[in-house]
Amino acid sequence: MALIAPSILSADFTNLSQQIRLAEMGGADWIHCDVMDGHFVPNITIGPVIVKAARKITKLPVDVHLMIENPDKYLEAFADAGADYLSVHVEEVVHLNRTIERIKELGCKAGVVVNPATPVNSILDIAESINLLLIMTVNPGFGGQKFIPNSIRRIEEAVNLRERLKASFLIEIDGGVNKETIIEAKKAGVDIFVAGSAIFDADNITAATAELKNLVK
Ligand code: DX5
Ligand code: ZN
Repeated sequence: MALIAPSILSADFTNLSQQIRLAEMGGADWIHCDVMDGHFVPNITIGPVIVKAARKITKLPVDVHLMIENPDKYLEAFADAGADYLSVHVEEVVHLNRTIERIKELGCKAGVVVNPATPVNSILDIAESINLLLIMTVNPGFGGQKFIPNSIRRIEEAVNLRERLKASFLIEIDGGVNKETIIEAKKAGVDIFVAGSAIFDADNITAATAELKNLVK
């Protein structure tokens, strides 16, 4: 069975607690926090303050996706805010092995993220050290975008890489996940699905979460 990680990027921030509760009632497994700095991606969203709020609201694992320049500078702040998973973009980190070790030292599970045009193979020599590989299925920066079709091949590559190396990282995808795209992605081997607009733009957040959950059980 795969997991559903609603992305609060698309939530109504005037009532974040109620939005997260509604997703939890639909069977959400993780809460995904999309952190953006307006440099690494052309959008500015949330920081440690909102992660801290999400931490207070939910008992579910808080899955923090750092779409920021120089993430090494902020690892402690997000770990202190309560991140369970802390993921950094391979495109942004020069000493990735050191960063992954630092995330673990801080007591978080360590994730690496690849953008749509970054080869999955680029994580080959860190694969045995990470807990999570996040494959971007849209160009990061905004919710509500279209799933990039060659992502299915990339998911399959990640599954094959994990098997070949006898690694144990989980495979997560993020972007354009909905009741149509989730089917093929699940078959390809995804473990965790981030979904923002498919859940929080729905008329019924609980039903939309439950529908995605049913499709991957
Ligand atoms: C990067 C963000 C979005 C978000 C998912 O842009 O990470 O991908 O989480 O947004 P939806 O599910 O609306 O595509
Ligand atoms: Zn994300």
